[in-house]
Amino acid sequence: MNEKSSEHDVLVIGSGAAGLTAALTLATRLRVLVLAKGKLTSGSTAWAQGGIAAVLDTGDTFNDHIRDTMVAGAGLNDRETVEFVIERAPAAIDRLCELGVPFNRASGDLHLTREGGHSHRRIVHVNDATGWAVQAALLKAAEENPNITLLPDRSCIDLITGRHEAKYSGSGRVWGAYALDTATGKVEAYTARATIMAAGGAGRVYQFSTAPRGATGDGIAMAWRAGARVSNMEMMQFHPTCLYNLEVKNFLITEAVRGEGGRLFHPETGHRFMQDYDAERMELAPRDVVARAIDDQIKRFGLDYVHLDISHQSPEFVREHFPTIHEKLLGLGIDMTTGPIPVVPAQHYTCGGVVIDLNGRTDLPGLYAAGECTESGLHGANRLASNSLLECFVFGEAAASDVLAHWDGFEAVPDIREWDESRVTDSDEEVVIKQNWTEIRRMMWNYVGIVRTTKRLERAKNRIDLLTSEIEDYYGNFRVTTDLIELRNLHQCADLIVQSALRRHESRGLHYTLNYPETDEAARDTVLVP
Ligand code: FAD
Ligand code: SIN
Repeated sequence: MNEKSSEHDVLVIGSGAAGLTAALTLATRLRVLVLAKGKLTSGSTAWAQGGIAAVLDTGDTFNDHIRDTMVAGAGLNDRETVEFVIERAPAAIDRLCELGVPFNRASGDLHLTREGGHSHRRIVHVNDATGWAVQAALLKAAEENPNITLLPDRSCIDLITGRHEAKYSGSGRVWGAYALDTATGKVEAYTARATIMAAGGAGRVYQFSTAPRGATGDGIAMAWRAGARVSNMEMMQFHPTCLYNLEVKNFLITEAVRGEGGRLFHPETGHRFMQDYDAERMELAPRDVVARAIDDQIKRFGLDYVHLDISHQSPEFVREHFPTIHEKLLGLGIDMTTGPIPVVPAQHYTCGGVVIDLNGRTDLPGLYAAGECTESGLHGANRLASNSLLECFVFGEAAASDVLAHWDGFEAVPDIREWDESRVTDSDEEVVIKQNWTEIRRMMWNYVGIVRTTKRLERAKNRIDLLTSEIEDYYGNFRVTTDLIELRNLHQCADLIVQSALRRHESRGLHYTLNYPETDEAARDTVLVP
């Protein structure tokens, strides 16, 4: 028996909203090991600004939230999943309040802000830095829980499956993961009877993204290589308003700025251009519509950016609602209380991912998944603002509850082979990693971006194929580093995105192609089978 398997019952990969929610639920009865790449706060959760969507207002209804989610998702959502998540939102917010998340309040009630695609005010928030407050509360609870062990600086490489059993059992189960301890440089087998994948999205596959450095799709790529299906990877969400600044890249300007009255203008003519694209919903149209409109303005008029302006609101209002953004921009010489903010669209969210059911189960026995690395059916062809953290809380809990409910059936971990480093040496050509990393991200931005064509997708596919042997060769011959692990996964995810995009012969939600501008009558998932 591997020593580590006797120490922990369940392995959770990821310490964001999904992973820590799962860990806290499991820890009521089981011993949980949580691994994170880099710091425990390195995921997207800590960066979330706008908030969490939940029906809490008397004038609002579950049906309205369900309808808004399905309108944004262009009908590709799974209705059962949408109902499942939205009906559990108020309870998820209650749990966060119990953990001490200091949500904004007005006269004692939770203050609700508004974002694009929502027909009501329904976003609970902590100023404009909701994610940081949520991450801190979850982490504090996990750190205080004696049944949870948190290990940062562990870069998981691959899931442990039947191929790694010392004596092949044929059970097809997942038994944990191999991970690089970045402090020692050693690869360890972290075994467990059940594994929950919560490793976040793949945003960094694009050159411009609001996602943090580590969002390289590791969870999706690991699950795919182990044999799990992935779905709807072509549905990559671009946020309309990322700050345009030559020094500070990837700084999001929350959609709540538009929710609280922010308007978009052509920077030279001052034309409020959303009236040409969606006269009814204007700046509060769903993200795909607003991002495409900005992309069109930038390309058509040769602009570097457009203007987002909320300076018609009082300076007190702006400072009170957006203290973090206001402060950050002031440091860059932009005063949003008196003038506009230059913005561009950037990749923001991975709607596709590992296929899961309502219990967070993947195709592989022993492997669950939750959060941004999954495709649960909630978001469909486009995620409604602030539905993502919600999905993490609901599916983190659902996956953990399923493990608890069936724990007696989880078999003991068999003997697992150690990581084999006998045929690798230290790399003498790190430049290969940098070159390929940059090439993939630029190519994805240029060929697989907001507006697509079949020709550009085919060009992207050719380039990805050319890189395959080079990356696999490098991986096979050199000792792993986090950069190499990430490059291998970025490449894998880029391939899955392009394959999926080439299969969808229609425009729907986030997948917009000039070759197939119409939307089919029937909505179908793009499911890739390993
Ligand atoms: P993450 O929080 O990304 O965590 C992933 C975890 O996996 C990390 O701990 C990471 O270290 C770990 N990990 C990754 N790879 C490995 C590996 N190989 N080995 C070990 N560990 C690994 N959503 C909303 O609903 N509302 C918002 O207001 C909002 N604002 C956002 C603002 C920004 C700037 C961004 C980028 C996203 C925003 N989102 C928002 C989306 C939302 O934040 C994310 O979808 C959500 O936080 C994802 O949570 P997660 O738990 O799935 O993954
Ligand atoms: C934002 O604050 O604009 C991001 C909200 C989200 O991604 O849901």
